[in-house]
Amino acid sequence: MDVRPFWLAGRPATGDAELTVTNPYDGSVVAICSVPTEGQVAEAVAAAAAVRKEAAALPIHVRAEALAHVSRRLAERADEIAHLITEENGKPIFWARGEVNRAISTFRFAAEETRRLGGEAMRLDTEAAATGRLAYISRVPHGPVLAITPFNFPLNLVAHKVAPAIAVGAPVILKPAPATPVSSLVLGEILAETGLPEGMFSVLPVPNDRAAALVDDPRLPIVSFTGSGPVGYAIMDQAPRKHVTLELGGNAAAVVLADADLDWAASRVALFSNYQAGQSCISVQRVIVEESVHDDFVSRLVPAVEALITGDPADEKTQVGPLVSIQAAERVEQWVNEAVAAGARLLTGGTRDGAAVAPTVLTDVPRAAKVSCEEVFGPVMIIQTVSGVDEAFAAVNDSKYGLQAGVFTRSLEAAFRANREIEAGGVIIGDVPSYRADQMPYGGVKESGVGREGIRSAMNDFTYEKVMVLTGLTL
Ligand code: SIN
Repeated sequence: MDVRPFWLAGRPATGDAELTVTNPYDGSVVAICSVPTEGQVAEAVAAAAAVRKEAAALPIHVRAEALAHVSRRLAERADEIAHLITEENGKPIFWARGEVNRAISTFRFAAEETRRLGGEAMRLDTEAAATGRLAYISRVPHGPVLAITPFNFPLNLVAHKVAPAIAVGAPVILKPAPATPVSSLVLGEILAETGLPEGMFSVLPVPNDRAAALVDDPRLPIVSFTGSGPVGYAIMDQAPRKHVTLELGGNAAAVVLADADLDWAASRVALFSNYQAGQSCISVQRVIVEESVHDDFVSRLVPAVEALITGDPADEKTQVGPLVSIQAAERVEQWVNEAVAAGARLLTGGTRDGAAVAPTVLTDVPRAAKVSCEEVFGPVMIIQTVSGVDEAFAAVNDSKYGLQAGVFTRSLEAAFRANREIEAGGVIIGDVPSYRADQMPYGGVKESGVGREGIRSAMNDFTYEKVMVLTGLTL
């Protein structure tokens, strides 16, 4: 098997070590990727720093054309890239195709948003002393972006950092997850086809323990991280003077109120607790059901979970595949066993086969069990019963996390109340918390992180407002 090069300042390069990427479903080797040396990492950072001014001054049409090119090429190579995602991540091909489609849109949105970077004029002659003065307010990139990305969306969560960086004219150093670097190396191939200046992007598949040196580097003033809370907060503590964006975890709740369409709610909760084997920060983990519809809802939910098609992720019909590794699946199994030992009841699932965990539904789960209060990141949901809306929203907020929540209701009043009372970055009415459109702001409160993604929000995050005051004008 050929060794895949990494991307150093826009050019392919090889280092002195290799990383073997395996398919979580069958253990087969998917790729052997070259790992950059420390010297090559230093070269990439130096190139990003050197191109910083040129990047910020890149004409909008150049940025927009580069982003549109990536979007087009992802579309042309969609089938190949979806299969690569499935192989390196274990994500069923159905969901991998969805991820590629989303990345196509993410780059397209960035191409469109960069064209809207107009700046704003503000008259200052509101006071006599400022007669003839006008402010021009523009957004200026802080500088090169360090993007550290997770395994669960190896293409689209990379796109959510690379695309807005290019859109604002910031070079980007990307450190992909060691389990799933292949999609971002392919993205590097596509970026290399654009006319972006040398140094504008590097894709460096270094091990996690080498990320700290990048976080420390003062030439990378922005750190945009998606991943686990402990790692995210360690980055923030390590670089308190940098602008750090953290997209962390959650234990997302879906609330089923008494007026909900129970068939719809059951089918959505069943699917989106288990999509990508639950390895999404917004997969349904806690299902909070009003007492009066509890039995009706659960009698629909459990068969819907049991009907999910599990197995080979390469099969077009598979809905639930393996987790990213056997170790990840063992941890989930252990958390389920621990909950059962503490008094929880298994309604279905609870078994493991290699890296695959059967879609699992638990009820009567003690509050302190990890499957209740931590992020499972596996195909596991717990059911909680509440007496009404007050208790339902309080139960959603009884969490250290606050990323997104879903509320199944037909009542507009309940919808607005949910929006007012639920402590989360997003509230989805009439659907699961797992809904994300790539242009919308996305991020959490509490321990789910700081900052927002979504193209325009990330562009704001990577830039600061700069004011130029013009004087002596006749306005
Ligand atoms: C995440 O896991 O935070 C990303 C979810 C998504 O992009 O759909």
